[in-house]
Amino acid sequence: MKNQMHIVSLIYSTGLHPASWRLEHSKIDEIGQITYQQEIAKIAERGCLDAIFLADGQYISQENTGHLSYFLEPITTLTAISQITKHIGLIATLSSTFYDPYNAARLIGSLDHISHGRAGINIVTSQFDNEARNHSMTQLPPLNERYKKAEEFVHVLKQLWQSFDSHALINDRKSGRGIEWSLVNEINHEGDYFKVKGPINLPSSPQIYPVLCQAGTSIPGRDFASKAVDMIFSVAWNKADAKRFLKDIEKRTEQLNKSEGRPLILPGLTVYVADTMEEAKERMAALDSFIDVNDKIKQIEQSIGQSVEGWDFDAVVPPLPSFDKLPTKVVSKARYEAIRNTIETESLTLRELAQRVSTWMGHKTIVGDPITVADMMQEWFEEECCDGFTLMPPTYPDMFEAFIDKVIPILQERGLFRKAYTGTTLRENLQCVVE
Ligand SMILES: Cc1cc2nc3c(=O)[nH]c(=O)nc-3n(C[C@H](O)[C@H](O)[C@H](O)COP(=O)(O)O)c2cc1C
Repeated sequence: MKNQMHIVSLIYSTGLHPASWRLEHSKIDEIGQITYQQEIAKIAERGCLDAIFLADGQYISQENTGHLSYFLEPITTLTAISQITKHIGLIATLSSTFYDPYNAARLIGSLDHISHGRAGINIVTSQFDNEARNHSMTQLPPLNERYKKAEEFVHVLKQLWQSFDSHALINDRKSGRGIEWSLVNEINHEGDYFKVKGPINLPSSPQIYPVLCQAGTSIPGRDFASKAVDMIFSVAWNKADAKRFLKDIEKRTEQLNKSEGRPLILPGLTVYVADTMEEAKERMAALDSFIDVNDKIKQIEQSIGQSVEGWDFDAVVPPLPSFDKLPTKVVSKARYEAIRNTIETESLTLRELAQRVSTWMGHKTIVGDPITVADMMQEWFEEECCDGFTLMPPTYPDMFEAFIDKVIPILQERGLFRKAYTGTTLRENLQCVVE
């Protein structure tokens, strides 16, 4: 394990709390302005975070939050952010189910050039049939198949990124020799999902391979991540979950005999931080008060695949069946498992579960003063539960700014987090070797 943790922040609308937009001072009217996104990126860079990453979806969600979650497209947005930042990594979410690898390689390769080596992609396989319907499909292909396609997608990206060595650019005005063609080669890829001749029409970028990430915890997702990516944005509610996941990825990577070892693992972390514990709790309660109790119940039912009608609000929730025995399909296995584990280990009442589930994606949540937050992060890191965290601030920019200005300095003082950027590329800052 490393001496210092890595921290990446997920940027999503006005924050990860579904009611974040309803706060009086929220920036909901600004989420489509690039200056709003740029401000957040500057705050992240002030805290020396490894990277920001932009979530993305391929449809307009008409779900229960009542507000617009996605506005600007991530790669375009990050390109604009690259112009007002110098060091921070820029990770765009991109769906291998819908993107074509040639276009994706050019887009991310271009971002890597424009940002001087700070680009990354969070490769997702997408989650909703509503997304598929915007891409000439009636529904999403099964999970296994989506991840098989993702694997081939990454294989093609890597080949394309190597197909035009930037040393091929001679630009000798006198002789008239511009390109050394022996360094530009076709890839002639023919697989199950893609046929790509290559070479790419973009010289190799500073990182050659922009940093590759994956988000999720399903078994096909883990297989894919162990083989193909540098960093995983995972889900872990407690230390035991996190350790189990890390060990599993370690085992999978060992079986592959990968010389560079396993990918970095950064579980999601939601932090409500204020100067005092009371204030932090108040901030969380203020957000939670927007959530209607019926919505909370609906969300529980959707997440656990069964009705809770007749359950007593103040009685401990009964144990849930294993995922394979569920009679109804639920959207996310990871979320189901997180809830099931929590019920088993914490004996929550329905009221407590409702409070958790309505605002929570199964990620570790810390509520407290800056020292409490730093202590818990240190504990997870030093007990080898993870390599750092994917910060999921409940509100942007205020809770995020509080984290950067109050928690980061404590981690820095303890030697657990960098005080300045040492590398020039994202890969260097993450210390991820290229195969
Ligand atoms: C931290 C985190 C961020 C994610 N961001 C996105 C996203 O922006 N877009 C998306 O379509 N899916 C996103 N996902 C969903 C995953 O890509 C994946 O579809 C989901 O976790 C279910 O996959 P699994 O069954 O492998 O866990 C995210 C998941 C996690 C854990």
